[in-house]
Amino acid sequence: MKIGIPKEIKSNESRVGMTPAGVFELTKNNHIVFVQTNAGFGSGFFDKDYVAAGATILNTIEEVYASSDMIVKVKEPIEQEYKLIKPDQVVFTYFHFASSEALTNAMIKSNAICIAYETVEEEDGSLPLLIPMSEVAGRMSIQQGAKYLEKPIKGRGVLLGGVPGVPPGKVLVLGAGVVGIQAAKMAAGLGAHVTIMDINMKQLRYVNDVMPNHVVTEFSSEYNIRKRIKESDLIIGGVLIKGAKAPKLITKDMLKIMRPGTVIVDVAVDQGGCFETTKATTHENPTYIIDDVVHYCVANMPGAVPYTSTVALTNVTLPYVLKLVNEGWEKACENNIPLSKGLNIVKGKIVYKEIAEAFNWETEMV
Ligand SMILES: NC(=O)c1ccc[n+]([C@@H]2O[C@H](COP(=O)([O-])OP(=O)(O)OC[C@H]3O[C@@H](n4cnc5c(N)ncnc54)[C@H](O)[C@@H]3O)[C@@H](O)[C@H]2O)c1
Repeated sequence: MKIGIPKEIKSNESRVGMTPAGVFELTKNNHIVFVQTNAGFGSGFFDKDYVAAGATILNTIEEVYASSDMIVKVKEPIEQEYKLIKPDQVVFTYFHFASSEALTNAMIKSNAICIAYETVEEEDGSLPLLIPMSEVAGRMSIQQGAKYLEKPIKGRGVLLGGVPGVPPGKVLVLGAGVVGIQAAKMAAGLGAHVTIMDINMKQLRYVNDVMPNHVVTEFSSEYNIRKRIKESDLIIGGVLIKGAKAPKLITKDMLKIMRPGTVIVDVAVDQGGCFETTKATTHENPTYIIDDVVHYCVANMPGAVPYTSTVALTNVTLPYVLKLVNEGWEKACENNIPLSKGLNIVKGKIVYKEIAEAFNWETEMV
């Protein structure tokens, strides 16, 4: 099969759909891989690395789409790409259809096979192609939070790890899922005192079992949150209720009981945020201050570390890509339930009912 890896053209996106190591696996399986020139540059991969892995470099995005049976990328196609997608072409990427009617209409019109990373779902309900990005964001949240705690950027002027004779900083992590556990692990590694809250006792038991003693678990409730935020230096929001907006665990009035210079990092911003005062920010302008509390609410945190994010993404997408190219998309989806859940739009028809529901479209489209 012919597989195309275009350069991402969405603004500020430096990730790429596949690493040279992933390309190597595909060429080893006798597939032909076309990579657009400089596609990997932002992630630290060069054309010569892809050539060494067996790829052919093409000069333009048009050539990549026109030459390929399947496209593997990162972000949803943007308007300039709509017309490049061909009937029967398989497109494997993050789509997030429910958030764009224009994209949904364009992909219906394309008659392509759109398989969305974000809806590939294991039998236990986990979303394997979203996990690495939550891992990246969870770990980054502490790195960013520690930086914004510094005085020149209006933080409290606290070093998270403390020093001999000075106690460490206090970190409160809301949510003990993928983001929360990775955040707690990083904060603990820096020597901070960490409290992690969840409403799921199973998760709290797990955290309690695997984390060091300076990470303590507490049941998430308004009472407990109000008590902890008074003394926290850094608060991480990593809660998720599947398919719903994030609950507002920290309301505007609560900012008044925090100490000036407290930093809050709302990783859940892409689901509306779990702080009432959250509004999405960008890597160019990541923070704003309300009531002396520094807010960091970047919606695409992994975009800032494209090397790590690209490698982490290829690690999890490659096994599915191999199934799709070795078996063909129909057989691969028949044989693999998690992958079949990734099918969103097939040759002009929506096959994932939540997309039609998101736009209140007639269900006969499904
Ligand atoms: N900003 C970014 O760049 C970025 C990147 C990756 C993920 N995210 C987002 O981060 C959020 C968390 O993702 P995840 O993968 O960790 O999800 P997850 O499902 O693994 O974990 C979420 C946790 O929140 C807990 N929770 C639900 N309600 C709660 C409450 N009231 N109090 C405390 N905990 C509660 C759940 O029990 C669960 O353990 C999601 O919204 C995800 O989209 C953002």
